[in-house]
Order: sequence, then structure tokens, then C-alpha cells
Amino acid sequence: MPPRTVYLETFGCQMNELDSELVAGRLRQLGYRFTAEAGEADVVLYNTCSVRERAEQKVWSRLGEIKKRKADEPSLVVGVLGCMAERDGEAMIDRMPVVDVLCGPGELDKLPELIDNAVRTRASLASDGSGRRARRSARQVALQGSASRRSGTLAAAGDTLELLDLSRTISPVDEGRSRSAYVRITRGCNKFCTYCVVPNTRGAEMHRPPENILDECKRLADSGVIEITLLGQTVNHYRFEHGASVSVGGVVQPQKGRTYKGAHHRDALSAAGVTTFADLLRRIHDEIPAIRRLRFVTSYPRDFGDDVLEVIRDSPRICRYLHVPAQSGSNRVLKAMNRGYTVEAYFEFLDRARAILDQPELGRPLMISGDVIVGFPTETDADFEATIDMVRRSRAKNQFIFKYSPRPGSLAFDKIPDDVPESVKRQRNNALLAVQGEISDEISREQIGREFDILVEGLSRAEKKRRGVDIKPGSGMVGITVGGAPASAKPETDIAEAAGLAQFSGRTDGDQIVFFDVDTTIQAPDDLIGSIVRVRIDNADKLALQGTLI
Ligand code: 5AD
Ligand code: SF4
Repeated sequence: MPPRTVYLETFGCQMNELDSELVAGRLRQLGYRFTAEAGEADVVLYNTCSVRERAEQKVWSRLGEIKKRKADEPSLVVGVLGCMAERDGEAMIDRMPVVDVLCGPGELDKLPELIDNAVRTRASLASDGSGRRARRSARQVALQGSASRRSGTLAAAGDTLELLDLSRTISPVDEGRSRSAYVRITRGCNKFCTYCVVPNTRGAEMHRPPENILDECKRLADSGVIEITLLGQTVNHYRFEHGASVSVGGVVQPQKGRTYKGAHHRDALSAAGVTTFADLLRRIHDEIPAIRRLRFVTSYPRDFGDDVLEVIRDSPRICRYLHVPAQSGSNRVLKAMNRGYTVEAYFEFLDRARAILDQPELGRPLMISGDVIVGFPTETDADFEATIDMVRRSRAKNQFIFKYSPRPGSLAFDKIPDDVPESVKRQRNNALLAVQGEISDEISREQIGREFDILVEGLSRAEKKRRGVDIKPGSGMVGITVGGAPASAKPETDIAEAAGLAQFSGRTDGDQIVFFDVDTTIQAPDDLIGSIVRVRIDNADKLALQGTLI
């Protein structure tokens, strides 16, 4: 069969961006080519997100658009990957027969086989020339269902999950390419916050063996990566019990946070004991000095021990940045959300984290970011006032603010009517954005006069616009495989054009964005991108800092 060309578009979170990168690497190894133009592809894949309705609507409209094209090109293969596939299951194909491949986030290692089968099936449908039959789906499906939540199938689910991460192909970072990468440490979630679909789509919480994580980080560092962001839905819950791990087919299995009862082989690789999140951070930091920035998202506000904070404090290359969503400032709403902590406990955590980690005098202020949901069912004006107070008191550098979106598959969906009118949600959203805007502005201004190490990401968006450089979604540091861009694409389309004075952007280790000018006749952009430079902050607004290279 001739080589196939794939278009892969990613929606949603960083976990999806990483999944897309891994899938693209596997497919490329198997001879598939990638294109940034859906119209040029024989295989069109959407890696989807179910967390909010808006992301889903985009996918439905993409599928609607591609229907027409498929009528003319019966050999075209369309695949839906990720959380929508897992949640909607085969009902999605019934609603949209244009979909040939469905693959849940826990089954992505099977994707090449599914695509191969679909390509063959579609080719045969196309060759028999029957337009009517050609509209039928090739129906290749791999979904996890609730398998990972049944302890009897935990090892098998873990086996599958670990294989995808282990298959990561790591090629040397070439000039201009991103030197920042994600590494998964935990999959799934056991929290069951009532608004959230993730425990349903990504399955039970499982932790990857530390040796596999370290090996992946080392290989990334050897290839030129200097910033690693560890990923988990509740990343600080990471905990690997060595004695409890099993080895199936030579692969050391990931495990749940507690002992896996069905373990039948002792893990030959590791001594008895537990690797905690603090241990893992320390090992990556100490054993891989080439990683100049180590970060992690997303933290759960509960169960965050001083041991982790102390490792961060004592490890110069671990970033002073914590993404710890509070979701609401009302204890009544937090309870209805099943978050398992009070707003007082959240503040206790922030105070403790700041006492240990906030060191502005060393150019390392602790930066917090969070998520807030407004308009959760039954949320009153008084609850919302409490959320405004929480946001003021938290002094996060930014808050991601979401209007509650009822999600089929979440616990609240069937049980709690979505009773806050859209107009009220919108009002609260805007009010909170305004409050946070003031705080972000204040925090930015506090940085004026300070000096920071900045990881240079590339030309600023404004500079690219001025130069007429094509800006692709997700290009820049996260440009490994985001949007439709092939993994090999250079994020800066034409660096040579940047000769003369140019505005660059980068980030502090507290994740603040910094703009600064560089005379590119003196400093080559290719040498700058991905390096760490020292910048003094001269000016600031709520979105970013502006500074001068020193
Ligand atoms: N509606 C609105 N926001 C949601 N989030 C998760 N589920 C929903 C929902 N049903 C938000 C939470 C979470 C972030 C990733 O998305 O704030 O932290
Ligand atoms: Fe969803 Fe809550 Fe798990 Fe986060 S902790 S993924 S919000 S269930």
C-alpha cells in the first residue's frame, strides 16, 4: 500500500497534546507522513476533549464538514480519538457514519492497527464504486469501557497504557524546534468531582514506574530537551509501591495509588518501598541536570505534603510554579462538587506553600495559578461572593475561569439540574475575570525592577504578525504536535526574516510571560531559542512583563 498522509488535530488539555505526540511518533515510524492541511490527508484524526461542551461542538462541526468530502473520496479514513470517543462510544458512529475509527485515550497503542484495517476496508469500498455503500463506516473500535476500574483487569489495562508511553520516539531537537516536553507520570483519576467527565473517560488512577519515567526524561534530555512538564490529573498524588508492581510481558506495570491485590510477580527491578512524588521530583532533578526546568501540572489542593514543597525549595531547577485549582470559594459548593476540602484548607495550603517557596528577593517569587467554575448548579449570589473573596485572597498570577457545562458521564449530569441561567453564568464569569485582571496586573507590576532567568521560546506573536509569519495554533514551545502541525514543523516559520531588532518572548520559572527585544544582527535567533537568558523587568501589564536583556 502506498504511504498514507495523516492530518491530526488536537483539542483540549496537555494530556491530549502528549497523546497526539506519541500517536504521531508511532505512525511516523510505521511510514505514515503528516500534513498540516486536512485537505491533503487520506487519514483525518481528531484527538478530542469532553471536559466542556464547546470543545465537543468544534469536533461535531469538523465531522459535519468532512461528510461532504467523504462522499467524493470514499477511501478517506476519519478517526475520533480521546475522551469523546470513549464517552460516546459507538453511538458516535451511529450519529456520524463518517467516522471509521474510534479509539479511547486508554487504547491508543492499538491505533495503528485500527487505522490499517480502516484504510483497507475503505479502499475496498471505494474500488467497488458504490457511493451508497461507501458512506458506511469502516467501524474500527477500541474503547476501554470501565475495564481499568475493575481490579481483575487492572494489570491488562496498565499494560496497554504503559506501552504507549514506552513507545515514545525521541529524535534530536533540531534548530528552532521546541526544547520543552511533557512526560506523563499518572494516568486517570479517582477523585470523581461531580462536574467532571475525566474519571469516566480516562479510567482509574494509575502511576507509572519511576524507572520508566526517569528513562524517558533522560532520553528527552539527551535529545536536547531542557524543560520537562510532568503530567497527571492529580499529579501530586503520584505514588509507586515497588513491591506491589507486576511485570507482564517484560513490561513493569503501572499501578493504582494503593497496593494492587492481584500482583503475582514481585518487581525484580526495584527494592521494596515506595517512591513518593517528592522522591520522584528529587530523582529527576538530581539525576538529570541537563533538565534546566522541571515543572508539573495539575496539583490537587489536598494531600500536598511539606516533603514536596521542601524538595522544590531545595532543587534550583524545579520551577516555582504551582497550578492548584480551588474551583470555588464556597464550602457548600465545594461539597456539592465533591472536592473533599474546604476553602480554609485551601488557604492553609497556599500559606504553607508561600512560606516555604516564595523567595522574590532571589528573583524566584512563587507563582500560583488556578481554575474556577462559575454557575455550578445551586450556586447563589452569596456562594459567588465567597468565590470572589477566594480569588482575591489567593492572589494567583492567573485563574482559568469556566462556566459550568453539564457533561453526560459526570456524576452531576443526571443528579443536579443545571439551574443557573446562562446570563448569570456569563455575568459571574465577567465579574471574576475583572477581579482576576486587577490581581494579575498587580502581581505583574510587583516584578518591575527584578531580574529573572527567562527560557526563550521564540519571536513574540506581535513580532510574527509584523513579519507576516504564519501563526499556527499551538506553535511555540508546545509545538511538538499540536493543532494540525506535523511534529517536524519548525515553530518559527522563517527565522532568517528576524534579522535586525526583534521582539522575543519567553517565560520565567514562575510561568510569567516576558517580552524583550534582541538585536538579531548580534545574537542569532537560533542560538537564543531554547536557551535561558537573564532579563530585567522594566514594565508590565496583566498579561505579560516587558524587560531588557542583561
Ligand atoms: N464545566 C466547566 N468546567 C469544567 N472543568 C471540568 N469540568 C467542567 C465542567 N463540566 C474545568 C475545571 C478543571 C478544568 C480542567 O476544567 O475547572 O480544573
Ligand atoms: Fe476531574 Fe476532579 Fe479528577 Fe480533576 S480531580 S480530573 S476535576 S475528577
